[in-house]
Amino acid sequence: MSQLDQEISRRRTFAIISHPDAGKTTLTEKLLWFGGAIQVAGEVRARKASRHATSDWMELEKQRGISVTSSVMQFPYRECMVNLLDTPGHEDFSEDTYRTLTAVDSATMVIDSVNGVEAQTIKLLNVCRMRDTPILTFINKLDREGKEPIDLLDEIESVLGIQCAPMTWPIGMGKRFRGVYHLYDDAIAFFDPQAEKGTAEIIQGLDNPRLDELIGSQADELRMDIELVRGASHTFDAEAYLAGKQSPVFFGSAVNNFGVQSLLDAVVDLSPAPIARPAVTRKVEPNEPKFSGFVFKIQANMDPKHRDRIAFLRVCSGRFDRGMKVKQVATGKTLSINNAITFMARDRSTTDEAWPGDIIGIPNHGSIRLGETFTEGEDLRFTGIPSFAPEHFRLARIANPLKIKQLQKGLQQLAEEGATQLFRPLSGTDLILGAVGTLQFDVVASRLENEYGVQVIFESYNCSTARWIHGDAGELKQLSERYSANVALDGADDPVYLAPNNVYLNMVKEKYPNLRFLEAREVI
Ligand code: G4P
Repeated sequence: MSQLDQEISRRRTFAIISHPDAGKTTLTEKLLWFGGAIQVAGEVRARKASRHATSDWMELEKQRGISVTSSVMQFPYRECMVNLLDTPGHEDFSEDTYRTLTAVDSATMVIDSVNGVEAQTIKLLNVCRMRDTPILTFINKLDREGKEPIDLLDEIESVLGIQCAPMTWPIGMGKRFRGVYHLYDDAIAFFDPQAEKGTAEIIQGLDNPRLDELIGSQADELRMDIELVRGASHTFDAEAYLAGKQSPVFFGSAVNNFGVQSLLDAVVDLSPAPIARPAVTRKVEPNEPKFSGFVFKIQANMDPKHRDRIAFLRVCSGRFDRGMKVKQVATGKTLSINNAITFMARDRSTTDEAWPGDIIGIPNHGSIRLGETFTEGEDLRFTGIPSFAPEHFRLARIANPLKIKQLQKGLQQLAEEGATQLFRPLSGTDLILGAVGTLQFDVVASRLENEYGVQVIFESYNCSTARWIHGDAGELKQLSERYSANVALDGADDPVYLAPNNVYLNMVKEKYPNLRFLEAREVI
């Protein structure tokens, strides 16, 4: 096997998705701890706790501050190199999450056993489904009185429309939670919140008398449960899992470390190594010798003094070496990348080499944009990096008109991160900002002030939704002339229709049948 094949087969690149408060941060931290990447459990949560600031957006600001060290975490575990990509928890940042999900090969879904399937879980799962991303499920908080496990599986199957294959089965819950039975190893792991790694003892076999000794009458309950579960639930099917049709389910309690190691082992044993990625002209196999990758995230002003920006690039094929010359396909320019960054769990270091599945950070001054492809020369373009129609709009006004240039620059640069979008209507000089969640406006206002020295006032703007316009050039011209205040250019100079309401939207759709009005566009 070539070194490239070897490195690919040991890569596992995944993200954790969950509804806020289900335990994503806790689980992330425990995974890092079991992976040996952090010494003391408590670091990640401590950072999160210190973020409990006075207002929601201040918290987000701080979160942005730490997100570079936590947004990509690489650590070795067993024979593998694991890349764990963080996704912002707040729903106003869901676009960022969607794009991050395009850069992973699998995902782990955390479900709170008390609350079951929640709104954000449904949204995120739908995004995973767009690419048939394989999903492991971790049902968390078994130390609390939650829903019956069988009901939770039913709920996941019916609400999320994905088959569940229990890999472990809980013994009791809440005060009676005693551990889990591993259905495929016929082993029982006993829960002990006092034990260092959450597990007191592991025994083999459901008929083992030690089981009765340890948990008394719950032993027979467990035997009956398992008989039932084996009859009533799906058996694990690797192919169905890899096709995104079935999710292996693990039970545990992240805060008590319990069940976390089994999950990490499953990431290594079951989750896929990097696979082929679609590009416009062809599929790109990870083991093609030539390097390629795409940018799924931009983070601006990590160091406000230097106005730098980090482009997060997922390596899709070949090998990246420090100092390598790569082609930025969108501009045709060749860059020599000497200062790429690898994100370890605790800090960052300069990348000497990277392989498919790895994420490297490329510092730049705004020359690299979201969704861009980099290659060793071929004109490839990776597809599927979405940008969604914003649902909230504001007109940006400035307190000091002399700073209009800074305002334009700030809005443009912050929009390049992808969380907001800037629209310039064809008539007039208005700058309209669109976002998926209103919190973004507070964040932008605060960042404009801190990073660009501009005080902005956001006024309401009469627009309910935006649609990217594609199709007949003649009709586009007519529409632009007739409704020049409602047709705008976005950051990439693509035409967008800013609809005051649905009545207008339907009207223009009828009037211009050869135009398509799209809700999402792929970046680039
Ligand atoms: P998130 O990132 O998905 O938003 O969730 P996070 O890990 O922050 O966890 C949310 C809350 O759930 C935290 O409590 C956390 O301690 C708790 N939690 C996580 N795993 C478990 C578990 O297995 N069992 C129980 N009972 N709770 C769990 P908090 O009160 O918000 O914070 P803290 O006071 O514990 O710091």
